[in-house]
Amino acid sequence: AVSLSGRHFLKLLDFTPEEIRYLLDLSAELKAKKHAGEPHRYLEGKNVALIFEKTSTRTRCAFEVGAADLGMHAVYLDPSASQIGKKESIEDTARVLGRMFDGIEYRGYGQERVETLAEYAGVPVWNGLTTEFHPTQMIADVLTMEEEFGRDGMRGRKVTFMGDAGNNVGNSLMVVCAKLGIDFCACGPAEQMPSDELVKTCRAVAAETGATITLTPDVDEGARGASVIYTDIWVSMGESSDLWGERIRLLSPYQVNAELMAKAAPDAIFMHCLPSFHDRETTIGEEVYEKFGLPELEVTDEVFEGPQSRVFDEAENRLHSIKAVMYATLK
Ligand code: CP
Ligand code: NVA
Repeated sequence: AVSLSGRHFLKLLDFTPEEIRYLLDLSAELKAKKHAGEPHRYLEGKNVALIFEKTSTRTRCAFEVGAADLGMHAVYLDPSASQIGKKESIEDTARVLGRMFDGIEYRGYGQERVETLAEYAGVPVWNGLTTEFHPTQMIADVLTMEEEFGRDGMRGRKVTFMGDAGNNVGNSLMVVCAKLGIDFCACGPAEQMPSDELVKTCRAVAAETGATITLTPDVDEGARGASVIYTDIWVSMGESSDLWGERIRLLSPYQVNAELMAKAAPDAIFMHCLPSFHDRETTIGEEVYEKFGLPELEVTDEVFEGPQSRVFDEAENRLHSIKAVMYATLK
């Protein structure tokens, strides 16, 4: 039987397909309990610390509500209100928090920061997004796909990430697909692809699970036959807003619109980790609109609000899957 007790959750490359399967099943089980109103305070009395060096809506709320549902207390630390990285190193922060808490979530910059935290904390550390990876998002995403196509129903299907395929979400989607035997396609310009090193690592994993990994700049090829069309914002947190002009030039051909969705499989669904830029009624949206005149960016409003969109199921599943990650590693 699989046990993840005491483990860190830093990137999915560290986990076997069986361990990922276990987290998916646990997420579905916890979701059913939540919907049935069945209490599941399995970790009563434990405490978790949530470090956010970047902003968040879904991930923070999923950790806080998930912790409360499991009977735990959560302490939120935002970068401006703690000493982390300014007056105190990651190593020292890790050793202090490790004495007080049973588990630590970290969202921030380089993957090496969360790895260092894990090395020194002495308690499980969970990656809530780094520049390179967003692993908790992937458990929610595959759960969402399986709710559509059946448990284990993704094997042999094609998942395509459109646009900034080398960002944390694109990288992580390639990893989870390779691990689970799902055909993955990164569709975007050469400049925005996952690194050669990560592609090589994932191809080696895929060779064992029977998955394929395709990189293509061609939208027709990327969309053709895909069961899932996935995209993400064109400029990620931590990147300069000066990049918008260049990214719009490079990524506009990969905008997920009705014409592109029509090229995918007839039963295809649309996914997006969110936040999304289909709606310019946001501060950054207005800025980009004023500068470049584009009302819609990586996805059109029509697709985002349309019948193929699963984005809010996906957002809800962040709660159930993050709860599964905390429970599995702390029990
Ligand atoms: N998808 C996601 O991680 O959203 P937040 O940035 O709101 O946490
Ligand atoms: N790629 C995005 C994901 C946000 C959840 C970012 O890093 O900003």
